[in-house]
Amino acid sequence: MQDKLSKIKQKALTKINQAKNLADLNKVKTEYLGRKGELASALKDIKKMPKNKRPKVGKLINEIKERLEKEIKQKIKKFETDKSKNITKTEWIDVTRPGIRPSLGHLHPITQTQKEVENIFKRMGFEVIEGPEIETDYYNFEALNIPKDHPARDLMDTFWLKTINGKSQIANRNNNQQSVISNKLLLRTHTSPMQVRIMEKRKPPLRIIVPGRCFRHEATDASHETTFHQIEGLMVGKDVSLANLKGIFKEFLTRFFGPKTKSRLRPGYFPFVEPGFELDVSCVICKGKGCSVCKNTGWVEIIPCGMVHPNVLKNVGYDPNKIQGFAFGMGLDRVAMMKYGIDDIRLFYSGGLKFLNQF
Ligand code: DAH
Repeated sequence: MQDKLSKIKQKALTKINQAKNLADLNKVKTEYLGRKGELASALKDIKKMPKNKRPKVGKLINEIKERLEKEIKQKIKKFETDKSKNITKTEWIDVTRPGIRPSLGHLHPITQTQKEVENIFKRMGFEVIEGPEIETDYYNFEALNIPKDHPARDLMDTFWLKTINGKSQIANRNNNQQSVISNKLLLRTHTSPMQVRIMEKRKPPLRIIVPGRCFRHEATDASHETTFHQIEGLMVGKDVSLANLKGIFKEFLTRFFGPKTKSRLRPGYFPFVEPGFELDVSCVICKGKGCSVCKNTGWVEIIPCGMVHPNVLKNVGYDPNKIQGFAFGMGLDRVAMMKYGIDDIRLFYSGGLKFLNQF
């Protein structure tokens, strides 16, 4: 029996030694150490032996078992270290190779245009101020000389916010019923409410522009969106006149669209200015020859403006006999469309990278 066992041991050791990979090793393991393996059957044979010889042989079998287990473990370790050595040999990393550039985003074309307009006006002494996108009925309409039931409200259908018990969360200026109604909350339809807010807070002279998002409840098409951008302008003082308005626009248009841009003022109606105008510029796309953007007229309407209405000045506590000035509300999306030759306003809000990457 002892002879048989030492033969088994020798054979197993040679096989472990010759194993080329883990699969070979596993084979040897089951062959000798498995439940039906050589050592297990030798252990069974013990029963056939005389009782006094059994402990010695049992011990021997255990020793062989431990030895084989130890050898197998060592061989596994060897396989692992060999493997990692091989990786460093074959999978070489060139640390001097340039990395993969992360793709960088950039400012949205509307933001780029806004910054450009802001810079031009800043150089002419205008201050840039922002205002709330959620407004009260009072600032969005009433204070701007657009009372309830005024037809001008039809042009500015907007989104109203829920109020609690008919009261908005914004503090009422006077606690009477009238102010509760006029403080109903809405998404501002234009940036003009900031004219009122600023004049209420500050004394003239003033020279400000107010860029910002505006909202209207309307069907969208190539030139209308429910969300869009405006830049409001306001210049008031003792003797600010239409001549100032014309001068400032001339400068702005030259710097923004180029020196060859022509402009014209046409009469226009807005309740918060008197007289009111539409400022048209010669179509930048077709250079005034006529195209789809200017509807073949050669002119594009981009800046509604006018002299601030005496009622608005009264509403903010200014004396219309002493103070006057002009205001304008430039459609930022329109201006950007003109500058870059974009024929659909919806592209700005599509989030499409094919479009955005061009700027
Ligand atoms: N707020 C007007 C609108 O959105 C545009 C406008 C017209 C603004 C005349 C002005 C202005 O400041 O003087 O339709």
